[in-house]
Amino acid sequence: KELLQEIEISQVENKEQLEAFRLRYISKKGVVTELFEGLKNIPQEDRRAVGQELNTLKNLAQTRFQDFTANLENAAENNEDAQLDLTLPVAPNLQGSIHPLTIVRRRIIEIFERMGFNVSYGPEIETDWYNFGALNFADNHPAREMQDTFFISKGEGAVKDDVLLRTHTSNVQIRLMERQKPPIRSIMPGRVFRNEAISARAHCVFHQVEGLYIDRNVSFKDLKDTLLHFSKEMFGKDSQIRLRPSYFPFTEPSAEIDVTCFICKGKGCNICKHTGWVEIAGSGMVDPAVLENAGIDSEEFTGFAFGMGIERITMLRYGISDLRLFTENDVRFLRQFEGA
Ligand code: PHE
Repeated sequence: KELLQEIEISQVENKEQLEAFRLRYISKKGVVTELFEGLKNIPQEDRRAVGQELNTLKNLAQTRFQDFTANLENAAENNEDAQLDLTLPVAPNLQGSIHPLTIVRRRIIEIFERMGFNVSYGPEIETDWYNFGALNFADNHPAREMQDTFFISKGEGAVKDDVLLRTHTSNVQIRLMERQKPPIRSIMPGRVFRNEAISARAHCVFHQVEGLYIDRNVSFKDLKDTLLHFSKEMFGKDSQIRLRPSYFPFTEPSAEIDVTCFICKGKGCNICKHTGWVEIAGSGMVDPAVLENAGIDSEEFTGFAFGMGIERITMLRYGISDLRLFTENDVRFLRQFEGA
């Protein structure tokens, strides 16, 4: 009974006193253990009752010990709070930033949406027909060779077509024309894949935006005006475009589109290799054979198509000279686009 009272009224103010309490009432060498040991000398008939009282004692000692420990810990924390320097500047709240390729893709979409284009998507894993065949590539066209295309499986049996990673976004043109009758005015952003060694100027994964406009009486002038307007919106009023004759199996005539180098404004720098011009897109009038492949009457409808590289446009817009920066996830690079 005395011991019970002793435990009830005892107080602990620091770690040393806590340890003293533990030694006296809790530890194997403490008084409570000692009493338990004396239990064997108690006559059989009283042993049970005394044992119960000892248990009460032991439990009380343990609860008190737990409370003391918790109180001391709280006190220590409060003490730390008291030492807080509230005049220190707040730690910056680091937010992620939008990837430059995303910024530019969104900007491209915005510009074309205001010209009445909608946005369409297609698969990255594609059959030979949608990536090449329907786009008028000859069977022996070099782009089908292993060195360019990542093939997934060879067509055999019921699956007649080779399956591959699309090498351009032009596959979406065909899928769109198959399911929608003209007028069609759509842009198609997405990832494309080519088996190329990674360097400052090339990568095996990159991004394109395909554009397609099919209606009655669509002319080459519409193509030129659309891309000129785009480049002025993207790079500023002073920007010019230049068309160079080119060849694509799915357009006729075809042209490559250059824009004035945004970085040196035409004066010549590393990014434009001192020519003042940077190629940003391939384009042309959709070949009648392609329209027919997708079930569109080429007597009634004409159209233009273009495909531009998002990486190239981003490099030009922000003066980035190494393509690898886009995929290395170096925060020193990415943070520069905070708020862009
Ligand atoms: N698909 C072509 C490429 O990847 C670009 C292109 C698209 C050219 C549409 C003409 C028309 O190089």
